[in-house]
This record gives sequence, structure tokens and C-alpha cells, in this order.
Amino acid sequence: MTAPLSQPFSMPGMMPDADAESAWIEVIRKMDETYANLVTQQVELERKNAELEEAQAFIASVLGSMTDVLIACDRDGRIEQTNPAAERALGCAGRELTGQPLRDFLEPSFHPAFARLCSAALQREEVSDVELSLRGPAGPFPIAVNSTVRYDQRGHAIGLVLVGRPVGELRRAYRDLAAAHEGLKQTQQQLVHSEKMASLGRLVAGVAHELNNPISFVYGNAHAMRRYVDRMTAYLDRVHEGAAPAELACLRKELRIDRARADAAATLDGMLEGTERVRDIVAELRRFSSEQKHASERFDLTALLRSAVTWVAKAQMPDLTVVFDLPDTLDIAGHPGHLHQVAMNLVQNAIDAMAGAPVKRLELHGREEEGTVVVTIRDTGHGIPDAIVGRVFDPFFTTKPVGKGTGLGLSISYQLVRDHGGELAAANHPDGGALFTLTLPAAGGRAKGRAKDPAKDPEGAAR
Ligand SMILES: Nc1ncnc2c1ncn2[C@@H]1O[C@H](COP(=O)(O)OP(=O)(O)OP(=O)(O)O)[C@@H](O)[C@H]1O
Ligand SMILES: [Mg+2]
Repeated sequence: MTAPLSQPFSMPGMMPDADAESAWIEVIRKMDETYANLVTQQVELERKNAELEEAQAFIASVLGSMTDVLIACDRDGRIEQTNPAAERALGCAGRELTGQPLRDFLEPSFHPAFARLCSAALQREEVSDVELSLRGPAGPFPIAVNSTVRYDQRGHAIGLVLVGRPVGELRRAYRDLAAAHEGLKQTQQQLVHSEKMASLGRLVAGVAHELNNPISFVYGNAHAMRRYVDRMTAYLDRVHEGAAPAELACLRKELRIDRARADAAATLDGMLEGTERVRDIVAELRRFSSEQKHASERFDLTALLRSAVTWVAKAQMPDLTVVFDLPDTLDIAGHPGHLHQVAMNLVQNAIDAMAGAPVKRLELHGREEEGTVVVTIRDTGHGIPDAIVGRVFDPFFTTKPVGKGTGLGLSISYQLVRDHGGELAAANHPDGGALFTLTLPAAGGRAKGRAKDPAKDPEGAAR
């Protein structure tokens, strides 16, 4: 604010009036100029001050909203500046922290790591992802620290800046994740186990049904033999007691000795056949249900498919028509037990799909061509809806009600077939019903490579 020029005045006796006046005018002009400069500087200063305050407020708000801990230290590791997140983590106000060695605020077990960090800073090295733990008011406060060197204007290293991300949350989340994963693994194991139990149950039911027939006719024939023996014993007793020929002839007729004699051989043959059938079923059962730790073997897929269909289908669907269009033998190599499990799963699915169907027919077609055995299994069930046909091999995928299916049958079967170097594909037959195609290398030539010995994959055996 410039004061208006005052009226020129003169100082008597000093200089002539005109000179004095112009000197004064000059002085006043200079003062006026200086004053104007001062005012301009003042305005500039105030503007800069406002800018500085704004910048400071901005930095404070950035520091305040940081969730990461920020600590600036000097070369000796003494705290120079902290952000609110660091103050909260340490439970102290910033002014209480300034000048204190940061080491004193760390859990003792992390002192060596901090020392390494400081010495790296002195070597002008940046360090990332070092774990430190602050001594917080509520216990240890773990942070993952990145450290950078701080330089002065002349480029001298004057300290280090630590930025620490709290990892407690992360650790907890990781622990929860690990626990959830563990739980999931256990559930999966339980489901795999229950799938195994279910398939064992089906096996037992099928085998029991198969055994029932020969055992019942062995039993029936044994009773008949018992009666024949009783009658013959009674007749022979009278012969040895010297009975008269007329009495013996009468007794022979009465006890139907001739008939018993004629039937005995056939009855015994029947018993023998029955026991042989039982023996074969038990042998098959042992073969298909053993733990199979031994190396892979050659076996006949035709016989295996027949037995799988018989065991699963006969007991559950007596009115099922089965068409076996298979060569007498289809030689393949691998683990009969595993492929028996595959066949049983496929047949079981077909039976489930045909429950309530007007026509219940299962067709198995097989052929061997160019070192590959191809078997198709077709049913007359409801078929696989187009929307899910690409998902039927996914583990746990099922459209069956809870307790009826785990959705593991096809995924396990797929893996077992792959372990044998083969393929399993699902589709629908153009005339309705599902069509599964099983392709396996023939025993003569392992056509498509990739086959591995499932015996060396105990996981596979356990699935
Ligand atoms: N022959 C088939 N006809 C129609 N749908 C089928 C057939 N086979 C499989 N599927 C469909 O594929 C799904 C998965 O079959 P998968 O054998 O893996 O499991 P699941 O039979 O449901 O249960 P699990 O076999 O574990 O008892 C079935 O739920 C069904 O929807
Ligand atoms: Mg199934």
C-alpha cells in the first residue's frame, strides 16, 4: 500500500529549495518502491506458504490413508519419521518414536534380519520382502518389508525408508485357506471311499446273486442224494440180512432203487458242475477284486465284460436283454480288476438310465482293428442331455439324487482307462440311449503309446 506523495517541504539552511525538494522526492520514491517490493514479496510468500501447507496436508493425508507401515530411519537405524499406520502398529505417538532405535520396537528374534537390512542400506542396496515383526501393543505384528536407501541433496546415503505390509491378515487368510483345503481333501477322500463302498456293494450283490444259483442246485442235489443213500441203505440192509427175493423185489420197487441208481450219477454231475461254477466265480472275484499290486497281465476283455454285465445286471434288472456282439476273445494287457471296475460302472450307469424305460436292452459290440480294441456299450435309457454330455467325466458331476450317486464313477473310470493307454468317450446313439466307446491297445501291439503300468501308480489303484 503506497502512501500518497506528501507535499514537498524544505529544511531551512541546508540547501537551496529546489535541490532539497528533488532529493526528498527521490528518497520518497525509493521508499515507495521498496515498500511496493515488500508488499509483492509478502503476497508471494503467503502464496508459497499456502501451497506448502496444501502439499503438507496432501502428504499427511496420503500417509494417513496408507495401510502399509512406513518408517524412515537414519543411518544408525533411529526412527526419524513414521506414518499413522506405523504409530498404530507400535502403539505410540510419532513424537515418542522419533529418535528411538527401531530395533527396540522389533521382536528380538528379528534383530538379525533388521541388522542385515541396515547393512544392506549402507551398501546402497534395496531389499524387498524381508519379514520383520513389530512389538505391537496387542502382541507381535508381522510385516513384509521393502527397504530403500534415502539420500540427501548431495547424493549421500543418510538413512533408509521401510515400507511394511501387514501379513497377519494374509497369514490368517492362508491358514483358513489351508484348513478349507484340508477339509475338502477329507471330504473328497470320504466320497471316493463311499464310491468304493458302493461299487463293492454292487459287486457283492451281483456275486451273491451269481452264487445263489449253483449253490441252490448243489443244495437241492445233495438233498436228493441224501434220500437216495437212505433208500439204498435200507435196501442193502435187507439184502445183507438175507431177505427173500420176493421181498427184495417188492422193496426194490417200493424204494425206487432203480430210479435212484439211474439218477445218482446225474445228480452227482450236477453237484460237481455247481461246485465248479462256484469255484470259477470265486476265482473271478479274486482276480477282479484283488489289490493288484503286481505287474500288468494279459487277459481277455470279452470274458471280463460278460462277467461285469452278469454281476451287475442280473441281480438288479432281471428283465434286461443283453446283446453280446463280441469276438470270442479280446486280448488286452493291464489290470483286469481296474477294467472290471470300469465295465461295472458303465453297466451300472446304463441300468440306472434304463429304470422305467419301456425297452431295456444293453448292447455290447467289440472288435479289434489295427492293434486297437474298440468296445461300444449302448443302452436304451433316457440318454445324456446335450448340455451335460461334456461334463459327465468331471469328478463329482452327477444328476442322481443325493445318496444315489457321488459322480465319481465315470471320472475314476476315465482315469483308469487312460492309465491303460486307452480312451473312454460318451455320446448319444442316434436312435436314443447313451453310447460309451472304450478304446484300448490290444495286447499284441500297444497302439497309441502313452500306456503306463498302472501297477506303478498306486494312486490309480486306490481311486
Ligand atoms: N448310460 C447313461 N445314460 C444317461 N446318463 C448317463 C449315463 N452314464 C452316465 N450318465 C450321466 O453322467 C453322470 C455321471 O456319471 P458317473 O458314473 O460319473 O456318476 P453317477 O453315476 O451319477 O454316480 P456314481 O457313479 O458315483 O454312483 C450321471 O449322473 C448321469 O447324469
Ligand atoms: Mg455311475
